[in-house]
Amino acid sequence: MRIITSYPDDSKLFAAAAKCLADLSNSAVLEFGRCVIALPGGNTPRGLFRLLAKDPYRSALPWSKLHFYWGDERCVPRDHPESNYKLAYDAFLSSVAIPESNLHIVPVEGSLPSEVAQAYEQEIQRSFRLEPGEFPQFDLILLGMGADGHTASLFPGGPELDVQNRLVTWSQPDLSFTPRVTFTLETINQAKNVSFLVSGIAKAAALGRVLDGDESLPAALVKPREGKLMFFVDEEAVGSR
Ligand code: 6PG
Repeated sequence: MRIITSYPDDSKLFAAAAKCLADLSNSAVLEFGRCVIALPGGNTPRGLFRLLAKDPYRSALPWSKLHFYWGDERCVPRDHPESNYKLAYDAFLSSVAIPESNLHIVPVEGSLPSEVAQAYEQEIQRSFRLEPGEFPQFDLILLGMGADGHTASLFPGGPELDVQNRLVTWSQPDLSFTPRVTFTLETINQAKNVSFLVSGIAKAAALGRVLDGDESLPAALVKPREGKLMFFVDEEAVGSR
């Protein structure tokens, strides 16, 4: 099931995304005792993160029962400006009552991206108590989308798109990019809920192609097997569709 909702501006987009995350979190905690969420990087989610750092969400969400992972992470130290962990920690995780053990940080200390990917995969297998070959089922995976249609760190034409039977892989579209680890498409497509946050006119061409099913763009390959696919977009990004 795919739901596309367009908002007049990004502040209304973020408000809706925050309410959706809160509703999903509360129902997952009620039913399963916890809610497992994967966060994106990039600038777009900052608007959502800022809302989570403030009331009502700061005091109302069941933070001790929420677990956060990262859908992708750059292979840089946690205090590096490019770190997706640092982005989320500074924006909201440092302001809410969440136990450190609920933050499943990508172990970027490994020397090679392939080693970091393997270590992160092992952390996911441990924390989800997975048997070999099993995939995690996230309650919610939040994703952004680049103007080239990439999502997480899955880039157009990249070998990372073809990785099978792995939870996590790594990518480096070209030497100007910091190597990064990323959920594989298989991991993303196992989620119960996947939400794209797409804002701004720069994304309009790619978003149009993704919504039309142009599978040359990685974001168009996000098709949750059983889960719900949601697009939170603003009018600039969705244009006159
Ligand atoms: C990352 C993100 C990446 C991001 C897009 C959009 O680590 O950079 O996971 O996939 O979501 O590049 O980035 P903006 O939100 O900054 O446009």
